[in-house]
Amino acid sequence: TEAQYQQHFDDKIAADIAIEAKDWMPDAYRQNLIRQIGQHAHSEVIGMLPEANWLTRAPTLRRKAVLLAKVQDEAGHGLYLYSAAETLGCSRQDIYQKMLDGKMKYSSIFNYPTLNWADIGVIGWLVDGAAIVNQVALCRASYGPYARAMVKICKEESFHQRQGYEAVMAMANGSDTQRAMLQDAIDRFWWPVLMMFGPSDADSPHSAQSMAWKIKRHSNDELRQKFVDNTVPQLEALGMTAPDPGLIWDDAAGHYRFGEIDWSELHEVIKGRGQCNHERLQAKRRAWEDGAWVRDGAMAHAAKNAASAA
Ligand code: ACO
Repeated sequence: TEAQYQQHFDDKIAADIAIEAKDWMPDAYRQNLIRQIGQHAHSEVIGMLPEANWLTRAPTLRRKAVLLAKVQDEAGHGLYLYSAAETLGCSRQDIYQKMLDGKMKYSSIFNYPTLNWADIGVIGWLVDGAAIVNQVALCRASYGPYARAMVKICKEESFHQRQGYEAVMAMANGSDTQRAMLQDAIDRFWWPVLMMFGPSDADSPHSAQSMAWKIKRHSNDELRQKFVDNTVPQLEALGMTAPDPGLIWDDAAGHYRFGEIDWSELHEVIKGRGQCNHERLQAKRRAWEDGAWVRDGAMAHAAKNAASAA
């Protein structure tokens, strides 16, 4: 009966046994996962755009090769995550279309422009650094296909974070102009990166249920705090500062304290009114339309092969 299925599901969650694609699961669990994994997949593919902006202007061949590899990794992450979402019964084309139509979200961080080369280092260091903190926790998410996809993604994100830090170290050890560029990039990205972790726990509608289902293992605020604690020593090692006069070490708590986030900015960006929301979706819509002939050709080829095999 339904009650027995539910009990079996609850027992597995309690015992930390992964839920697999063919297992019974409550419909709300399935829908919540499609929402989160779908948004996550969209973030990976939209996230290629701000960095791709600098592929043609990377300062050296080495930097260009590294950036190209990283942007390709992000496409791969999107593919793993769309596949994980499909195991839940949604169609990739359907959720992709919802993203193009502005009906499904992607991470707020990718709606900020990349104005100079330092932004690329800062994205690797801070944006991918924040992504790892969030994603390491997701390696233990209760849904098996999602958790397993996160393991490989985290390994690659870790490389991305280190290449970002290496790039910002080069600038921090460079000329006054380079240091000023780096500080400017940090000043613009710092607060938006803290917003990546989502609204505060008190204001996060999905958290309680997602934690009970063990999709989320830590709350938005816990992960944000962990990121700040990890990152401030790195900032200091670079000789740079955060644009937050409230950022101080709290010895008693063993944590850095930080100032109040401007939540109205996060809400504006999530609602589609950030600096680059329009541009990002336009770029993806254009790519989808321009690629139609490739999809049509591939489908015709597959149909012809299937017919000749039959
Ligand atoms: N950008 C855009 N939307 C956001 C953000 C953000 N930074 N933070 C929260 N939201 C959205 C949520 O998706 C949710 O929207 P919905 O109800 O329409 O689906 C709403 O704001 C309320 O937030 P929460 O209740 O806190 O939502 P949730 O429990 O899903 O937590 C979080 C948000 C932490 C982002 C979670 O979905 C998650 O861990 N996702 C997987 C990681 C991810 O997507 N990373 C993408 C960036 S990293 C990268 O791609 C490199």
